Amino acid sequence: MRPSALIPALCCTAALILSFLCLFAGHKAGFMEDYHLVTLNTSMIGENLVNETRSTDTSNPLTNLLNGVRNYGSSAINDAIGEVTQKLGIEDFYSAHMLNYCEGQYTPAEAPNATVSESEIHKNVTECSKNRAMYKFDPTAILEEALNKTTGLDVTLDDLHWPSDIETGIKTLNALMGAMFVLYCVAIALIFVALLAAVVAVLLSGRLSACVNFLISVLAFLAIGLASALVTAVMVKATNIINDKGSEIGLEANRGGKFLALTWAATGLMLVVVVSWVVEFCIGRRHTKQPVYAKHG
Ligand SMILES: *[C@@H]1O[C@H](CO)[C@@H](O)[C@H](O)[C@H]1NC(C)=O
Ligand SMILES: *[C@@H]1O[C@H](CO)[C@@H](O)[C@H](O)[C@H]1NC(C)=O
Ligand SMILES: *[C@@H]1O[C@H](CO)[C@@H](O)[C@H](O)[C@H]1NC(C)=O
Ligand SMILES: *[C@@H]1O[C@H](CO)[C@@H](O)[C@H](O)[C@H]1NC(C)=O
Ligand SMILES: *[C@@H]1O[C@H](CO)[C@@H](O)[C@H](O)[C@H]1NC(C)=O
Repeated sequence: MRPSALIPALCCTAALILSFLCLFAGHKAGFMEDYHLVTLNTSMIGENLVNETRSTDTSNPLTNLLNGVRNYGSSAINDAIGEVTQKLGIEDFYSAHMLNYCEGQYTPAEAPNATVSESEIHKNVTECSKNRAMYKFDPTAILEEALNKTTGLDVTLDDLHWPSDIETGIKTLNALMGAMFVLYCVAIALIFVALLAAVVAVLLSGRLSACVNFLISVLAFLAIGLASALVTAVMVKATNIINDKGSEIGLEANRGGKFLALTWAATGLMLVVVVSWVVEFCIGRRHTKQPVYAKHG
């Protein structure tokens, strides 16, 4: 019996649960929606056009739409937030998760105002896409489809001045999404093996089992660490590109801080496991050496 091996066993269990949650957060509407990878806040798309398209060119469908929205220059400008996208059939947000994406409305308001504070705003998911390993998150196609579905309007993404450079950010995200998925699966498998090995090590003491456990947990730590580093890099890069190119049309991208907390917590737990096996190995060595000294003495 080696009761001290319960520490790595418990850490592996916690890390296993956390990495499962990373994979499945948001996989159905309302389940850990805040643990998204990236959320696109599309609630203000088109607001920037309100001033500049104040032309009398009635052949432009967007002008007609915007002319019906509000009186320009009015102080009630915030009251009309989200009205343009609502008329266009675009949701307030689109959030990417590991297995799917969700869309929905911000409630009770799209942006904080005098009566609604930022912390009171939460996401009301209307729909999520089907779960699929290595799906592509393509906001350009999603928005195009939403615009196509809105009957009676001929507005295209070009009318909204949708920047084509946004694709660069999205392509980065998509190209690495497959790699992230595979890494999380490998990490989950290795953490599971590390957990089994730790449970065995509770029953079997000895340096060999500490050594085997050390090797397995190092591999599991590397896998989850690599997955976390990759997901962090992709999130930062994708949101920076989208915010850079999208700000002029009112598009905002938010990276998922809570997802990062989850994945780095799992990585930290696996580091604790690795360290505890190193300690276990050293203690084991001291124990086996003691009888040798005794014989010589
Ligand atoms: C539109 O014009 C109003 C009044 O001139 C101004 O207050 C507002 O900031 C302008 N909005 C944008 C998005 O430029
Ligand atoms: C959505 O984006 C707009 C424009 O950048 C911002 O004013 C608003 O606060 C954002 N809403 C949320 C809930 O993040
Ligand atoms: C803030 O937004 C809410 C929800 O849209 C609205 O009911 C309220 O009147 C707004 N308050 C102010 C001061 O604009
Ligand atoms: C979320 O949206 C649905 C449908 O639009 C609505 O019936 C429901 O009341 C909303 N929930 C919240 C908490 O606002
Ligand atoms: C939307 O409609 C345009 C023109 O009708 C078409 O070219 C485009 O493929 C459609 N997009 C989607 C996502 O359905």
